[in-house]
Amino acid sequence: MIDILALPKAELHMHIEGSLEPAMLLELAARNGVAIPFATQAEVEAACEFQNLQTFLDLYYAGLTVMCGREDFTDVTYAYLRKAHEDAVKHAEMFISPQAHLRRGITFPTMMDGILEAMEAARQDFGITSGLILGLQRQFPEAEGFEVLEQARAYEDRVVGLGLGGPELGNPPSKFERVFAAARARGWKTMAHAGEEGGADYVREAVEILKVDRIDHGVRCEDDDDLVHLLAERQIPLTVCPLSNVRLKVFQDMAEHNIARLLRAGLAVTANSDDPPYFGGYVNDNYVACREALDLTDAELVQLAKNSFTASFLPQEEIARHLRSIDAAIAGAAAGE
Ligand code: ADE
Ligand code: ZN
Repeated sequence: MIDILALPKAELHMHIEGSLEPAMLLELAARNGVAIPFATQAEVEAACEFQNLQTFLDLYYAGLTVMCGREDFTDVTYAYLRKAHEDAVKHAEMFISPQAHLRRGITFPTMMDGILEAMEAARQDFGITSGLILGLQRQFPEAEGFEVLEQARAYEDRVVGLGLGGPELGNPPSKFERVFAAARARGWKTMAHAGEEGGADYVREAVEILKVDRIDHGVRCEDDDDLVHLLAERQIPLTVCPLSNVRLKVFQDMAEHNIARLLRAGLAVTANSDDPPYFGGYVNDNYVACREALDLTDAELVQLAKNSFTASFLPQEEIARHLRSIDAAIAGAAAGE
């Protein structure tokens, strides 16, 4: 059996604010004098029982209010990148939700400078590379998205792309057609959460109207056969988050998850952690959960790891280098090294 824990991989779908470990949540609340309804780590963990996406988002938005100063953004980002490094993640593309901070008076530079500092430190300390994606919150008007794009001008070359998260039902991708067109016109990559709680029609809108490079989640695409064929034919990557989907009751348990089926249907599927402490695991925990519940073969696990690089926004030569390192790791294991 291949050691998937040690396999080089990329993580393409995680939210920096959603990587706040309970201990750091309490520490930052104390540091900044922010009142939160939890006194102990156990109380935070007990609150991680979700009925659906909205019950999680309520906790996510409450939790991120402990992030105030530049060093808080640095600490949270660096802690995630350290964990990712321990899971053999060589490259991470991370979401930040700017509106959640701007709306409570945190400035754009506070947030960005703090995160960028951690990204550089983690590159030096662990050799891990990373990219930053601005994730619009879909419950807010499209006009706010343009404000975010405007504020990002000063950080133009430090941002990989534009994403879309938050409560999906009732907030279809088409609501953001113009701001996504503006991001594409700037040369940014684009992606949207779609088909997590929303239906296949939302995935189709993200592809056809937003013209995204990747779909985040996308698991509900299976309700539309033609769409599944389109995703396979165009190799539009899906950044699937198996543990998240089970915790948010998109699937009742891991044995019901469709990631193996989608992979076997030839889609460019990847496995990711989304909001790791909230959903009970980092990226390797997701690989392990899939292997155990869905009988993924070694070859399929390797395919997931390879897909994570080919679906990334790294330059082609970097992708090729990472793919060679996966092949070398497998060859080394086969030779009994
Ligand atoms: N923001 C953080 N995690 C999210 C998820 N799983 N879906 C939508 N928005 C999110
Ligand atoms: Zn997400």
